[in-house]
Amino acid sequence: MTNTQNFDKATQIGFIGAGNVGGSLAVAMSNAGYPVTAVGSRTFASAQTFAGRISDCTAYENIQEVVDRADFVFISTSDDAIKTVCDQVSWREGQGVAHCSGAASVDLLQPAVDQGAVAGAFHPLQAFNSVENGVKAIPGVTFGIEGNDAIQSYLRGIASDIKGIPISLRPQDKVLYHVSGVLMGNLLAVLASVAASMWEKFDHTRDEGVRALSPMMPAVSSNLDSVGVPQAVAGPYVRGDIGTVRKHLEAVSSSAPEYLALYIELALVGLPFAVEKGALAPERSQEIKELLESYRST
Ligand SMILES: NC(=O)c1ccc[n+]([C@@H]2O[C@H](COP(=O)([O-])OP(=O)(O)OC[C@H]3O[C@@H](n4cnc5c(N)ncnc54)[C@H](OP(=O)(O)O)[C@@H]3O)[C@@H](O)[C@H]2O)c1
Repeated sequence: MTNTQNFDKATQIGFIGAGNVGGSLAVAMSNAGYPVTAVGSRTFASAQTFAGRISDCTAYENIQEVVDRADFVFISTSDDAIKTVCDQVSWREGQGVAHCSGAASVDLLQPAVDQGAVAGAFHPLQAFNSVENGVKAIPGVTFGIEGNDAIQSYLRGIASDIKGIPISLRPQDKVLYHVSGVLMGNLLAVLASVAASMWEKFDHTRDEGVRALSPMMPAVSSNLDSVGVPQAVAGPYVRGDIGTVRKHLEAVSSSAPEYLALYIELALVGLPFAVEKGALAPERSQEIKELLESYRST
């Protein structure tokens, strides 16, 4: 092991945090020929499970051993633990370290930088719920990358080699970038949960709602992918069907008032896209806007 600032495909990689993201990235990196050789976690059992998925990877009980043995360390703990972990160990001059958080910037790794390490961030813009699904979900994923030139070049290379799409992020843009991911990944699932829950209001189950509605998601995704915004935006708002909108508002107010505010606000933010598409006249959009606003706090 050497002190180095040039990271390449022979650089020994360590992971601290043996969860869904760390496990998925490590398997993908190892499959792409990167030597993932050391792992540590809060519990030794997690580290052992992680190491068991990768050839020539050793689980360590003490995370300092991971830092001592690897030339580049990915901290893939929960966001709240990144700084604690970084503070807790001793770093070497020229060693590389990156965390996987989308919301936190590289500043969290300042304790390592103060000891001469070079720091970056490597965030996969994808929802991970297991290692098995995560490994399959990596191809095509965008990776938000922060760091100096050496780190960026290394992390961009890894992202490309595991079939992802690297993009560079400035620290000040990181939070909005993460908000966009949470809107699309997490809050879209909340929206789907709300839509499916509506089925309970007309004597069906939420599970039936999920089964009926979820095939719409790949169709919307495919439309977005092929024609983009605003062309993929469709429905009664784009058509200017104010009578249908009124019926929606009456039904939601009386049968699902807990979702009325969500419905109104989403519809309102959608109107400019319908106008931009050229399908909804600005005057009709204004009429719909006034109708929607009249149902606020009713
Ligand atoms: N999940 C996503 O969809 C997603 C997507 C992109 C990026 N990320 C980011 O990826 C990172 C990891 O998320 P995740 O979803 O993989 O979380 P996760 O599945 O909960 O895994 C976190 C891992 O960190 C370990 N850990 C927690 N505190 C620790 C500590 N003090 N010292 C050592 N290890 C510790 C846990 O250890 P034990 O298992 O040993 O208890 C666990 O294995 C986060 O920064 C997150 O923001 C997540």
